[in-house]
Amino acid sequence: MKIKVGVMFGGKTVEHEISIISAIQAMGYLNKDKYDVIPIYITKNNEFYVGENIGKIEAYTDIKKLLAESQRIIMVNEDGKTQLIKYPQKLFSKGVYDYIDIAFPIVHGTNVEDGTLQGYLKMFNIPYVGCDVLSSAVGMDKYVMKTVLKDNGIPVLDCKCYTGNQYDEDADAIVEEIESAIGYPVIVKPVNLGSSIGISKAENRSELYDSLDTAFHYATKVLVETAVQNLKEINCSVLGDYETAEASECEEPVSSDKILTFAEKYIGDGSAKGAKGGVKGGVKSSPSGSKGMATLKRKIPADITDAQRDEIRALAVKAFKVLGCNGVSRIDFMMNTETQQIWLNEINTIPGSLSFYLWEPLGVKYSELLDKMISYARKRERENDSITYTFDSNVLQGVRLGGGTKGAKGTKN
Ligand SMILES: Nc1ncnc2c1ncn2[C@@H]1O[C@H](COP(=O)(O)OP(=O)(O)O)[C@@H](O)[C@H]1O
Ligand SMILES: [Mg+2]
Repeated sequence: MKIKVGVMFGGKTVEHEISIISAIQAMGYLNKDKYDVIPIYITKNNEFYVGENIGKIEAYTDIKKLLAESQRIIMVNEDGKTQLIKYPQKLFSKGVYDYIDIAFPIVHGTNVEDGTLQGYLKMFNIPYVGCDVLSSAVGMDKYVMKTVLKDNGIPVLDCKCYTGNQYDEDADAIVEEIESAIGYPVIVKPVNLGSSIGISKAENRSELYDSLDTAFHYATKVLVETAVQNLKEINCSVLGDYETAEASECEEPVSSDKILTFAEKYIGDGSAKGAKGGVKGGVKSSPSGSKGMATLKRKIPADITDAQRDEIRALAVKAFKVLGCNGVSRIDFMMNTETQQIWLNEINTIPGSLSFYLWEPLGVKYSELLDKMISYARKRERENDSITYTFDSNVLQGVRLGGGTKGAKGTKN
């Protein structure tokens, strides 16, 4: 019997469109002898749609039309299966569209990649591919991620993290603290966005105010760190789970002179200055923040020494394990080519194109990569199933609630 895989993509995120591309590309490589693939599109309002054209890229040029000809569904747990139920239910029509054995989220960004969708799926007891709730959430918050990695001896840049509230209360104090603790030039970035959105470099006080204003426009939590000089960026993917994690080939995204805007990265429009999500200020950057779009330039393998390659691959595997990742992630590093220092910059728990292009050089075909990801999810599910989630106790026996002064016997105090 084939495994029914529900590939979920889209969602309420700025990387909605990138996810559609990543997912439809991946579905083309899922082995149809093993899997029945059910594409599930998540709209920008987080509604789920299925249908004949949902897995076709051409259909997304007119999403309104696509939705009109497709079927909205909700997920329901019934008889130990996750059913896709037509919504709203029509009188006298068959309510069940189909069911799925496993969900495969190929989503990018906040509200989906950050543990939200994973938590939703977990509530349905449905196995899902990729990182679990905690690793997804920790991986999405650059500050929390750095804190955990640092505690485990992985090199990350020191940073300062501030909330919008703190900034509103005393921006001057924040600026002074940054100046004394870090010094210029600094990079200011929202903790939980991707694709370079809201990120800029500040060389002096007035630029720092501008950078903070920009970052807080996109997020309520922002971090500030030193801007790495003589920057070379290296990315490495890791595949597996807590036992089997292994590193891919390393890539070097080809840098331009500044952080690319969202439009430049994804729409190929270098003139789209005021584009939503655009970054201002001249910052050394590269397409590494991108979701691995095939059109972006990169060197594979990266132009680094064998020793550097070994170090980066070992750090990537260690970070993957420390964060409790599963499936495939891409871990991005920054290097100062003069001092040879290396820092882990960020993790993408669902990288664009699932980083397949970093596995091919090692002889792992895209369809094999997807197979492995699914088998790691099933392994995790079996392991979770063996854990006892119920605890027999007599706590509820003899409980009396009421306004009396006597506390309910056996309740937590
Ligand atoms: N500390 C830094 N020093 C120099 N450049 C940086 C630094 N942090 C980020 N950048 C540049 O900005 C890009 C995007 O930052 P990153 O932290 O990867 O966020 P995103 O999640 O948006 O990709 C990086 O690829 C790099 O080019
Ligand atoms: Mg990045």
